[in-house]
Amino acid sequence: MASLCSHLLSFLLLQLFLPFLSASVFANNCTIYRLSLSLDQQNSSWVSPSGEFTFGFFKPHNKNQFLLAIWFTKIPDTVVWSANDNNTAPTGSTVKLTDDGRLALYDPNGESLWERPAKGAKPAICAAMNDNGNFMLLDENHEPIWQTFQEPTDTILPGQMLEIPSTLTTRRSEEDYNDGRFQLRLQLDGNLVLYYVAYPTEVHSMAYWATMSIKDNASSKLVFDEKGYMYVQEGTKRIYNLTKTDAGSPQDFYHMARIDSYGVFAQYHYPKSNRCDKRWSVVQRIPENICNRFDTLLGSGICGYNSYCMEINEEPKCLCPDDYTYVKQYAPNEGCRPNFELPSCQPDGWDTNRELVDFHEYKNLDWPLTDYELQTGSFVDLDTCKQLCLDDCFCVVAIHNGNSCWKKRYPLSNGRRSESVNRTALVKVPKKNSELYPKKSCDANNKSTLILVISILLGSSVFVNILLILVISLAIFLYKKKLLNFSSVSSASAANVRSYTYKELEEATGGFKQSQILGRGAFGTVYKGVLPSDPRRFIAVKRLDKVEQEGEKEFKTEVNVIGQTHHKNLVRLLGFCEEGEHRLLVYEYVSNGSLASSLFGITRPDWNRRVQIALGIARGLMYLHEECSTQIIHCDIKPQNILLDEFSTPRISDFGLAKLLLAEQSRVARTNIRGTIGYFAPEWFRKASITVKVDVYSFGVVLLEIICCKSSVVFGMGDQEEALVDWIYDCYCKKKLSELVENDEEARNDMKRLERLVMVAIWCIQEDPSFRPSMKKVTQMLEGVTPVSVPPRPSSYSST
Ligand SMILES: *[C@@H]1O[C@H](CO)[C@@H](O)[C@H](O)[C@H]1NC(C)=O
Ligand SMILES: *[C@@H]1O[C@H](CO)[C@@H](O)[C@H](O)[C@H]1NC(C)=O
Ligand SMILES: *[C@@H]1O[C@H](CO)[C@@H](O)[C@H](O)[C@H]1NC(C)=O
Ligand SMILES: *[C@@H]1O[C@H](CO)[C@@H](O)[C@H](O)[C@H]1NC(C)=O
Ligand SMILES: *[C@@H]1O[C@H](CO)[C@@H](O)[C@H](O)[C@H]1NC(C)=O
Ligand SMILES: *[C@@H]1O[C@H](CO)[C@@H](O)[C@H](O)[C@H]1NC(C)=O
Repeated sequence: MASLCSHLLSFLLLQLFLPFLSASVFANNCTIYRLSLSLDQQNSSWVSPSGEFTFGFFKPHNKNQFLLAIWFTKIPDTVVWSANDNNTAPTGSTVKLTDDGRLALYDPNGESLWERPAKGAKPAICAAMNDNGNFMLLDENHEPIWQTFQEPTDTILPGQMLEIPSTLTTRRSEEDYNDGRFQLRLQLDGNLVLYYVAYPTEVHSMAYWATMSIKDNASSKLVFDEKGYMYVQEGTKRIYNLTKTDAGSPQDFYHMARIDSYGVFAQYHYPKSNRCDKRWSVVQRIPENICNRFDTLLGSGICGYNSYCMEINEEPKCLCPDDYTYVKQYAPNEGCRPNFELPSCQPDGWDTNRELVDFHEYKNLDWPLTDYELQTGSFVDLDTCKQLCLDDCFCVVAIHNGNSCWKKRYPLSNGRRSESVNRTALVKVPKKNSELYPKKSCDANNKSTLILVISILLGSSVFVNILLILVISLAIFLYKKKLLNFSSVSSASAANVRSYTYKELEEATGGFKQSQILGRGAFGTVYKGVLPSDPRRFIAVKRLDKVEQEGEKEFKTEVNVIGQTHHKNLVRLLGFCEEGEHRLLVYEYVSNGSLASSLFGITRPDWNRRVQIALGIARGLMYLHEECSTQIIHCDIKPQNILLDEFSTPRISDFGLAKLLLAEQSRVARTNIRGTIGYFAPEWFRKASITVKVDVYSFGVVLLEIICCKSSVVFGMGDQEEALVDWIYDCYCKKKLSELVENDEEARNDMKRLERLVMVAIWCIQEDPSFRPSMKKVTQMLEGVTPVSVPPRPSSYSST
């Protein structure tokens, strides 16, 4: 009664000011009379009577423009209809009912951006935002003259019915509401068809799924009923059921169906209960596994050019090969571009520079249809295929399978990766560390560009070129010779490491005194010391106890590799000692203890410092993985192995012992019965190959610890069975990130960055190593240079 009275009252009041509201005072469907909204006003929306749906201005992420839209009031970011997809409204725009009865959207200059109903229709008097999500404009008899249910965008709701002909068009990406490449059409012949659309002519559009419910004189409807079932109806008969499973009762779930930016027409539901991990989940998808669904002769396919489509947790994703990035940051399905330029096919470009390129190898990946050459024969194995592509400056990717090798050029289209693709892709990329140019530090690329530049400068004369090639070949020959002879030259190698006698180090550490011990690691004990020759500088001496007697060469190779590293986030190796059974390593002394004692101690570093520490570790690891002359897998990243210097700069220690470590780590990991995953990547527990991605995993765990200052080891031992990573993923999915940084005011005021860091960490701890990003990508994401996409659940059951 009260609400009727207030309606009446407001209506009477409004009538005083709005002369066009004349007749039909007691209409029951009209809920909105004051047909005017302004973006600048506080109450710039109309809500349905029950509060489920809102009509108003919606601001997509990363944009300062607005859509006139309808969304679920209580569910974040779920727009179900929008008016001005192609023509977003800037701040200061308004919506109002014009004198001739049209609802119009104006930009701040008074230009009309959108208007309904079309000219010629009856004028509208009032509007209704209904509880089913339908927004209507009504005439003076309160008959609807226009409704959003009849002009859908990409979504339909229970209670909605599409008549022939109707079209749903995808968004370009989750964040970009412009029209995308896919459509669902209910055609005049009654057929319900999914199309890949070639804009703007649409002539070469291609169907990839259809009901084939074709009738001569069709009057079909696509019905989404209130119980959550979708079907095609002809007359009163259901002729095609789209919903094959029970989607849950409307009492328990919200329902919707949408054609997503990957071309999948999916039905979703969302629990109404107060569960905490609420999200839209897919009830059913049409078609299943879109990635393998079709090959468009023209156009890029599901994902954009040079990218590939892959199902992750039953959802399609568009991914770039390593060393490629998305063309548009927030639109992963708009293709990838290479971060490099391959040497050209110019006369001097390829033959002299083909040595500079290498291949990334991906199993189960293919880009069908873009090949320009095919080689088959019993001799065509993977290496031959690689060579064939290497010898051809036009070739950017080779696909190998059995006895066949396909060569591909840009742009690559229809990429897909799944177990059912029985092919291996070889993607041509520049070599990071060309073996040809050995170096003390890690600047191979500079040298190769230098040679390239010189050869281009001198390129005008054939004679000079021949001379140059001779000189280069000679230099290479000499370098190689030096490399090969290296271990027999002397222990004081080309690297800047010194050889110490055991006696020297014994003196430096006071006879390896107990009181000089800095710590004990997996391989031995670390002592603090001072060399008599340099009394102002402390050193850290690591005495290795468990080195297998692999011989001199092995140890020296390792030392040499470590000695060549120079990076401000790594602990520097100064020298070594190798006498009889003794194997010692001499490092610079890093004064501020380990990250573990700092992070889990009493005075933890503040938020900004912690973010800087995380970045420093990422950069150090990126250097080890990608920028050194020899790739170094650390294998034992944990806070105990990260030291802090006097400026709190993180310094990674204990790297480069990979060969020694691998055996030891696998033993430790594989005997770790309790099942606290700790810092070990899941592949340690399997008989899987160990790659740089184990470090990415460990880094992910350390990053989580840095974020919330909690030790994953201690956390796992508490009463709760839950692992730290599970807890954090849980908080992430429940959007309760502030719980991670409970008493940390600074972090709580920096939620954006906190979220980014957590998302990066979740990407790092993916169970499947191939989903984990490279450290380079991690660094870019942490820096905010590259956007971070929403990470999938790390694994179905992460702690087993
Ligand atoms: C208006 O309301 C009546 C009952 O309240 C309902 O039967 C009718 O369908 C409504 N009309 C529209 C167009 O929603
Ligand atoms: C405007 O919004 C405020 C709070 O958001 C609410 O209290 C007030 O009733 C609203 N006014 C109208 C006219 O809807
Ligand atoms: C958006 O633009 C496309 C292509 O320019 C056009 O086909 C489509 O009708 C437009 N959509 C709307 C809602 O104006
Ligand atoms: C098509 O349907 C309309 C109305 O349902 C009917 O009047 C007409 O005769 C039909 N035409 C044919 C060829 O069946
Ligand atoms: C669709 O489902 C309904 C109810 O489950 C059933 O009665 C009907 O026969 C089905 N129609 C077809 C074409 O499968
Ligand atoms: C994959 O290809 C290889 C080589 O052609 C073949 O031996 C193997 O049986 C294929 N596997 C599957 C699952 O098709």
